[in-house]
Amino acid sequence: MDRSLALELARVTEAAALACGRWVGKGDKIAADDAATTAMRQSLGAMEIDGTVVIGEGEMDEAPMLYIGEKVGTGYGPAVDIAVDPLEGTNLCAKGGVGAIATIALAPAGGFLHAPDMYMEKLIVGPQARGCIDIHDTPSGNLKRIAAAKGCDIADLTVVLLDRPRHDAAITDIRKAGARIILISDGDVAPAIAVGMEDSGIDMVMGIGGAPEGVLAAAGIKCHGGDMQARLIFTTDEERRRAPEMGISDFNKIYGVEDLAGGDVFFAATGVTAGPLLKGVRYFASGAETHTVVMRSKSRTVRFIRSRHYFDHKPGF
Ligand code: FBP
Repeated sequence: MDRSLALELARVTEAAALACGRWVGKGDKIAADDAATTAMRQSLGAMEIDGTVVIGEGEMDEAPMLYIGEKVGTGYGPAVDIAVDPLEGTNLCAKGGVGAIATIALAPAGGFLHAPDMYMEKLIVGPQARGCIDIHDTPSGNLKRIAAAKGCDIADLTVVLLDRPRHDAAITDIRKAGARIILISDGDVAPAIAVGMEDSGIDMVMGIGGAPEGVLAAAGIKCHGGDMQARLIFTTDEERRRAPEMGISDFNKIYGVEDLAGGDVFFAATGVTAGPLLKGVRYFASGAETHTVVMRSKSRTVRFIRSRHYFDHKPGF
């Protein structure tokens, strides 16, 4: 696939972040999400791709834009799967919390798992700990192997989890093992991308979060050469009924990076609020600055783009 698509993706996430950047701290997550989604969709329309949204804002009947199955792009160019979260961490944006991002990933058609809107258990590490994780094992068992691979003590490792009661047992086990923990209120994609960078201060991201977010995380960590294991967590009969319609037959399957995000994958994310990897949207008198990461799995190039947008040349922002 044409590598210049990566830069196009950066434009798409920048547009989404700029659109919802105005909503930071305003307490209205729906308006923020709508603004990001509208801008992302408009910007995607100009891309020379024959794209299909496989991870999006919801089913066609519940989401007016970027719904699952929606065709995006000019229709000319490569047939690709698109995974989007125009505003990942809607609460974080509404409250001005840490780590809201606008994000998108692209794979050759058929590359992404069509993950239903349900929970997924995830275990994610950077390249140094590739091959060391086992989702069947305890967090402390995994930490032991990660510490050995990194040549450090467990006490030097930091684990990120969503701050949810469902993670109490894991938190107790991690604390007993002596590792450090960062509990986040929302937004598990940003740390899942950051863990791929050696200097992020994050060594493992784990726990149960959204399945669509898991596919975006897999695309990102694949570009870093990291590792991920995941499994779907079924909590309702409706989820069990609908999963086969989305091509999922084995409910106990452990998904690896390739199962979640196969082929030559592109990933981009722009910070909406400041987080572990990216700065948030910052305004100045005549415009705003954005901070974006763009990556491609084939080349493993990780680009950080700091862009200045002048509003007199960009009406609408
Ligand atoms: P939204 O952006 O849709 O608000 O999702 C944020 C998020 O925190 C994800 O990052 C995470 O995977 C999921 O929600 C966790 O779900 P829950 O809040 O139900 O634990």
